[in-house]
Amino acid sequence: MTDATHSTAPDDTEAGRTDPLVQLSLEQLRRRTSMKWRTHPEDVLPLWVAEMDVPQAPPVAEALHAAIDLGDTGYPCGSAYAEAFAGFAVERWKWDGLRVEDTSVVPDVMMGAVEVLRLVTGPGDAVVVCSPVYPPFYAFVAHDSRAVVEARLGPDLRIDLGALEEAFALARCRGRRAAFLLSNPHNPTGVVHTRQELEAVAALARKHGVRVVSDEIHAPLVLPGAHFTPYLNVPGAENAFALASASKAWNLAGLKAALAIAGPEAADELRLLPEEVGHGPSHLGVIAHTAAFREGGAWLDELLLGLDANRHLLGRLLAEHLPEVRYHAPQGTYLAWLDCTRLRIDDARYNGGDGDATGPGVVSDLAGPARMFLDEARVALSSGHVFGSGGEGCVRLNFATTPAVLREAVTRMGRAVRARRP
Ligand SMILES: Cc1ncc(COP(=O)(O)O)c(C=O)c1O
Repeated sequence: MTDATHSTAPDDTEAGRTDPLVQLSLEQLRRRTSMKWRTHPEDVLPLWVAEMDVPQAPPVAEALHAAIDLGDTGYPCGSAYAEAFAGFAVERWKWDGLRVEDTSVVPDVMMGAVEVLRLVTGPGDAVVVCSPVYPPFYAFVAHDSRAVVEARLGPDLRIDLGALEEAFALARCRGRRAAFLLSNPHNPTGVVHTRQELEAVAALARKHGVRVVSDEIHAPLVLPGAHFTPYLNVPGAENAFALASASKAWNLAGLKAALAIAGPEAADELRLLPEEVGHGPSHLGVIAHTAAFREGGAWLDELLLGLDANRHLLGRLLAEHLPEVRYHAPQGTYLAWLDCTRLRIDDARYNGGDGDATGPGVVSDLAGPARMFLDEARVALSSGHVFGSGGEGCVRLNFATTPAVLREAVTRMGRAVRARRP
């Protein structure tokens, strides 16, 4: 068995691969100081928070180096980010309706979501989410004194339109304003919503007077076989908002910047965004995101091939080492949602909630299988219960890593499960 904790040599599946996922050794990755690599001790393989184990895309690195060399580290200015994103959107998704003047640079996607939700709801109003979903959807909405109303995904992990309609009706009760915070594509399941699904969402939102805010941070990460539909590009979505960012696809979470985009009927509202919101993004962030969307396409294509290979490798590894775990291969993102309920990890010692991890808030709250895999396999995953209803007994695994690490992690997880058997 390879021990990926110490091995740095590419393994069989890595030989000859040019994708960014096989460029860095574990020694190099362990020198990183970001959350993924510093939350847990060195014997843990970190497959949790959404950071990728890739070097920076050359056009992005070059733009950052040029800015540093020039001392170009002041405040951000201008519409280059929006123009670069608009160009990318036309080329990749044939979305030609995006108007640069209907966009606003915001500090990051979640702050952008909060600010846009403030435009269309007030304190005490409800925000609908499709659970299980990215945990900060709960935390940020609650922190801003809005109530979260859940519409559970269906058993196929896709949007359940019946549940969504019930949630919309509940959210609008007594005539209160309401919004729907959509994850498009969906984190943590990796489901890429179809155009038909999004049209049905738009029709329901119009019928109930619910405003849609579509978080499209994972949009560039749609994998072969699926097609991304920008929400603002479907009929009925003209009064909606979207949030875009290069943060996930080019691993730029540490370089803060994102774009809020208004549909044509919402453009006047977006102009009401307080001026100070535009002071949050960093100039280096804007430079990096702009370079990514403008010139990072070829690098992204290499990455997508690597992620595609890894999602299939993960399927094979799970079938071999953890056949009880249910895995729907994701259509997009680099996140895999693993239903571990058949492992029956219900011992009290694994279900006490937060433990020794030191990351902030819900991201480090572990229970059930995630806690067992950390304690017994030394593999850090995201715990399903923090993704809301339907997340219990599940874990989210980040496969944006080398095949060697993926192989070692799943092997360890399988061994830990077998060791529990009488
Ligand atoms: C769906 C979704 N939205 C937002 C974020 C966070 O984005 P940002 O760091 O720009 O706030 C993430 C991060 O993984 C995410 O998965």
